[in-house]
Amino acid sequence: MKALGINFMQHRVIDIITAVVGAQFGDEGKGKIVDFLSENYDYVVRFNGGTNAGHTVVVNNEKFKFHLLPAGSLRVDHVILGNGMVIDPRSLLEEIEAIRKINRDLRITVSKKAHVVTDLHRLLDKAEEEKRGSMRIGTTFQGIGPAYEDKYARTGIRIEDLLNRQLIKEKLNIIIELKHDLIPDIDSSKLNELASSLLNMGKEIKEYMGDTESVLEDAYEQKRSILFEGANGTLLDIDYGMYPYVTSSNTMAGFLSCGSGFSFRKVENVIGVIKAYMSKVGGGPFPTEINGPEADRIRELGHEYGTTTGRPRRIGWLDIPLLKYSILLNDIDHLAITNVDTLGEMNEIKVCHDHEMIPNNANGKNNNNPDSGYKSFESWGKLEDVDKREILKEGFDAFPEELKIYLRYIENMTGRDIAIVSFGNNREYTVRKYDDLKI
Ligand code: GDP
Ligand code: IMO
Ligand code: MG
Repeated sequence: MKALGINFMQHRVIDIITAVVGAQFGDEGKGKIVDFLSENYDYVVRFNGGTNAGHTVVVNNEKFKFHLLPAGSLRVDHVILGNGMVIDPRSLLEEIEAIRKINRDLRITVSKKAHVVTDLHRLLDKAEEEKRGSMRIGTTFQGIGPAYEDKYARTGIRIEDLLNRQLIKEKLNIIIELKHDLIPDIDSSKLNELASSLLNMGKEIKEYMGDTESVLEDAYEQKRSILFEGANGTLLDIDYGMYPYVTSSNTMAGFLSCGSGFSFRKVENVIGVIKAYMSKVGGGPFPTEINGPEADRIRELGHEYGTTTGRPRRIGWLDIPLLKYSILLNDIDHLAITNVDTLGEMNEIKVCHDHEMIPNNANGKNNNNPDSGYKSFESWGKLEDVDKREILKEGFDAFPEELKIYLRYIENMTGRDIAIVSFGNNREYTVRKYDDLKI
């Protein structure tokens, strides 16, 4: 119990350890919820993925997009990029420069053991997708898969290697030796150039390099509150998602231990973020997908275009069986729901409570038959500014009756409380169900 007396006084909320994960196909609004919660936390930690993630936070109509830094970076003291991540040093330096203008004193620790995404990995990502032909995944082309391939092949470049020119060159050479056929245009002069640029960026990143396991252990000993920010979504998990239409890391809450060095036994709360409907970028099964005017309307109302790629997102109704699967995988305690304002503007609202697809069987057929397994809900209409102000004053009680019915249905079907509701993209449009809930 190090220095308890001194640090204890500085806490905003004492001693909470919480994980926030996406319970669908990504883009559930994790960034918004993490930013909202981060007011009460000292540390925010990313533990998986790379720049495939795009987490949006809107404050006073100003948009902040995070790819590598946690969305909590706007207002916590210390953020951590865990070893489970794959990090493009150029993107990292750009994001650090941007955040310095807003949260000047933010402390940043980047795991020495995280893996590096280089320009080669981005080229390989494109080349591999081409080779997959009809089995293409629809990746974000951010080099994520190839960087994790190298990690698990034990040829990857780690963040700490960026301080060693010789090692960088040797490792780049191995990548080229193994994958030359996929990127035939890379010659030794390009490799030298790449090695120099990685070394230069390494020098700039040096001051942030650390061992996240000990930083987190110190934080825990000092009873600091820690928030883990999952990237991507549970249904994109490399093991439990809809393989092969998944990302290349584990995305579920349990991976936070492997991806940051902090024991899973100390995590007290797991919050699953869901959108009131569903969206998906990239290929693969999407059991409740809708097409046509209804989908177009949701896409336009919800600005459903990828934060990282700008691709139009596929749209579908809320899928209860898949949500239950995510609850099981992450052991979710509470749900946070976003975009209820968007869904409310639809004339008819549906939820799928039953379909035959086995969640991790990518060959399963979509069951879009609206007569079987769907329940319809009455619309709660557009939330006007006056409604939103009332909700902020009165909380859940001020929700339109139709919305309360919708939320209660989800709670009944999943057996989990919806503890947080987001009803607009701005930070302020977020309410908690209970004031005394310790999250
Ligand atoms: P993440 O990847 O899970 O952090 O989600 P993204 O940021 O990629 O996508 C969520 C989108 O929905 C962003 O554009 C957010 O600004 C927006 N958003 C989040 N919550 C709400 C909400 O309650 N209402 C509306 N209208 N937009 C929201
Ligand atoms: P956030 O954190 C939505 C999807 C891609 C593709 C598949 C594999 O913003 O929720 P990858 O580039 O990871 O190899 O792509 O996974 N994907 C995401 N979709 N949101 C994300 O992150 C995603 N991260 C990966 O679209 O289908
Ligand atoms: Mg996103």
